Amino acid sequence: MTIKVALSGAAGNIGYALLPLISSGYIFGSKAVELRLLEIPEAIGSLAGTKMELVDCSFPCLTDVVITSDPLVAFNNADVIILVGGMPRRKGMARKDLIQANTKIFSSMGRAIDEVASSDVKVLVVANPANTNCLVALTEASRIPTKNFCALSYLDHQRAKGQIAKRLGVPTNSIKNVTIWGNHSESQYPDALSCGYCVDKDGKNVPLSDLLADDKGWANNEFITSVQNRGKAVIEARGLSSALSAAQATADCLKIWLVTGTKAGEIISMAVYNDQGYYGVRDGIVFSFPCECRNGEWFVKEGLQLSEFSKNKLNITEEELLEEMAAAQELIGSSPMKIRSVSMSTCSSVASLATAATESDMSVYLTSRM
Ligand code: NAI
Repeated sequence: MTIKVALSGAAGNIGYALLPLISSGYIFGSKAVELRLLEIPEAIGSLAGTKMELVDCSFPCLTDVVITSDPLVAFNNADVIILVGGMPRRKGMARKDLIQANTKIFSSMGRAIDEVASSDVKVLVVANPANTNCLVALTEASRIPTKNFCALSYLDHQRAKGQIAKRLGVPTNSIKNVTIWGNHSESQYPDALSCGYCVDKDGKNVPLSDLLADDKGWANNEFITSVQNRGKAVIEARGLSSALSAAQATADCLKIWLVTGTKAGEIISMAVYNDQGYYGVRDGIVFSFPCECRNGEWFVKEGLQLSEFSKNKLNITEEELLEEMAAAQELIGSSPMKIRSVSMSTCSSVASLATAATESDMSVYLTSRM
């Protein structure tokens, strides 16, 4: 079985860093992969060079690379679609204009997915504004279950782990279960305390609420703003936005969602379609929640006790997402954006990936993350 993976924006910075992770088996293990690289016509020439490089890498699992500027070609029977391409924010551009420019793009992506993708396709949206782009695409792709979509908030999740680890002087990967709530924007709420813990030297899980008990001022202030502004800090230092870490987070999110699942007692942050009003958040928007993944599906982890402080933070980011939805709606013209119900996807090539994840896939994954 060959997994057909479509990547939009493949000639961009994230695309270039992501292609080896898709082609080398990092995400899908030893499964054969056929790549469809989607770009605007002006970037097709440079993609031809990237294709040469992919051939020169001799990735054993990469069976074919198709370059196209037609979403109907890229998405035809696709099993996994990663949407990285979009309109960047230009100097002086109002946020509403950015949302509307991307609404046009993601509306046409959604329609193409609806028309030709595998009925079990899994779609990860990376391009900003990621949550609302994802909402627009899934609204247009009414044939595909909403549960098959998510937007990337896992980079923020990893950034949050990094900040806490630095504060506590422990390895980043010993920090578990931080949560990013809401939008992938500066209104997001990075939450260390609701269910975060640290695995100590003896393998014991110590709640972050205990470890940071005397440092709540930091956890409720500088920690939050440092994660919210991390993307900006990278741009200031590098002159370019995060690409290496964004590609790695994209690959890890796909791997955990579709192949390995989350480990027992662990969650990851994923921006998913809220059809259940989880945690009192308005349904009908794509909102980042703590999620568990099993058998190629995500499940919002329910039942966390949120403080009043946290609830207020959730309201702020929810408000921004509702504004973004309103701006997108003006263009799409559906009022209100149709609320879609979740239906379980049927088993096909991607669903079977999760059950086919082998011990050796896991060990490849674990060693490559050290
Ligand atoms: P980039 O500008 O280097 O690449 C974007 C690529 O998308 C370009 O090659 C462009 O030609 C292509 N593109 C534009 N419109 C397209 C369309 N309609 N169809 C196909 N391709 C199209 O940008 P970079 O650094 O790769 O970032 C990509 C996106 O990811 C941006 O929107 C950025 O804001 C977002 N991002 C999201 C993160 C997240 O955590 N969700 C983190 C970092 C970036």
